Amino acid sequence: MLPLIKTYLPPKNVLMTKLEEVLYSGYIAQGEVVEKFERDFEKFIGSGHTLSLNSGTAALHIALILAGVKYGDEVISSAMTAEPTNVAIKMVGAKIRWADVDYETGNISPIAIENAINKKTKAIIVVDYAGTPVDVKRIKEISDKYNIPVIEDAAHALGATYNGKKTGNHFPFTVFSFQAIKHLTTIDGGVLQIQNKNLYEKGKLIRWFGLDKNVSRLENNIQFQGYKYHMNNVNAAIGLVQLETIHELLAKYYTIGKYLDLHLAGVSGLETVIHYPNSESSYWLYTLKVERRDKFVKMMNENGFMASEIHKRNDSHTYLNDFPSNMPNLDKFYSKLVHIPCGWWVTIEDCDKMVELIKKGW
Ligand SMILES: Cc1ncc(COP(=O)(O)O)c(C=O)c1O
Repeated sequence: MLPLIKTYLPPKNVLMTKLEEVLYSGYIAQGEVVEKFERDFEKFIGSGHTLSLNSGTAALHIALILAGVKYGDEVISSAMTAEPTNVAIKMVGAKIRWADVDYETGNISPIAIENAINKKTKAIIVVDYAGTPVDVKRIKEISDKYNIPVIEDAAHALGATYNGKKTGNHFPFTVFSFQAIKHLTTIDGGVLQIQNKNLYEKGKLIRWFGLDKNVSRLENNIQFQGYKYHMNNVNAAIGLVQLETIHELLAKYYTIGKYLDLHLAGVSGLETVIHYPNSESSYWLYTLKVERRDKFVKMMNENGFMASEIHKRNDSHTYLNDFPSNMPNLDKFYSKLVHIPCGWWVTIEDCDKMVELIKKGW
C-alpha cells in the first residue's frame, strides 16, 4: 500500500560517514555540531535565531514560556492539529480557548481568533495544518491590534512560504519538528525559531535547567525553571546531512502537491484546499474534502493507496476541551477531511492512478 507518510534518510554511505565521525569524536552531547546546525538552519530560514531542541513539543513549551503564558492564562488555539500543539498549552498551566477554522483550509480562522480574545488571552497558537500556511496577513493584523504574541506551529510546514519568505520569518516564535516522519528528520528533534535576540538568549537557559552554558557550573545561579530540552551532536549531525539536500526533497513534495492540485481541481464529490493569497504549501500531507469519506477511504485502500484523516480533532479529548465550543466550520471540514499520499516516495504515475480512480467515483 502506498503510505501517507514516509521517513526520508540520506544514502547510507553519506549518513553513516558523518554519524560515525560524531559518535567516536569523544563529544556526543550538545557541542559544536549543534552550533553549526543552528547557524545553518538560520541561513535556511532567512531571519531570526534558531534554538535547537530535542522535540517540537519542547519548542512549543519554551515558546509559551517566552511569550509569558502562565498558570490560569488563556491561549487561543485550533482543534484541527496533532495533540502536541494543545498539550503544550496545558504544560504551562494555561487553558485552551478554541477558535473555529476556515472551511477552505482547515486552518484557524482570523475572525474566530478575534472573537475569542478576552482579558485572559496571553498568546495565540496558529498551525499550518498539513503544510498549508495560515492567513499570515490577517493574523498579524490581529496580533498587532491586540498586542498578543503569535506562536506559529509549523511542524508540518518546513519550506512553506508567504510573500516569498519561508515559514519562520513571519511571527515572533515558529516551531518546527524533526521527528521521524517530518520533511526533515533528526530521528527526534525540533527547533524554535525566535526573532528577538534577548528572548533567544533566555530560551538557551530554559532548555538547559536554567543554567548558562557559557559560565562554569560553580559560577551559575539558576533564577527560573529550566528543562532538559537541548539537542545533542548526534541528532544535529543527522540534521546537517539532511539540510544539505533539503531543497531537493521539499521540491519533490511541492511537485506532487501541485500536480494533484491541478488534476483534482473541479472533480465531482471533492474539494481541494484553497490557499491564502501569496502563500505556498509544503504539502506535508495532501488534504482533500470528500463526500462519503468512509467509502472514499475504502476505495483508495482497495486499490493500494492509503487514505485517512490521520488526526483526531483535539476538542474531542476531555483533558484538552477546557471551553467546549460550537465550531460549525470545523464540523463540516472534519466530516469530509481525508489525506492521500504526497511526498518524495510518490511518483507522477502514482498520481495519475489516484486521479483516474478518484474520477471514476466511489
Ligand atoms: C502540528 C504538530 N505540532 C507539534 C508536533 C510535535 O513535534 P514533536 O513530535 O517533535 O514533539 C507535531 C508532531 O507530531 C505536530 O504534528
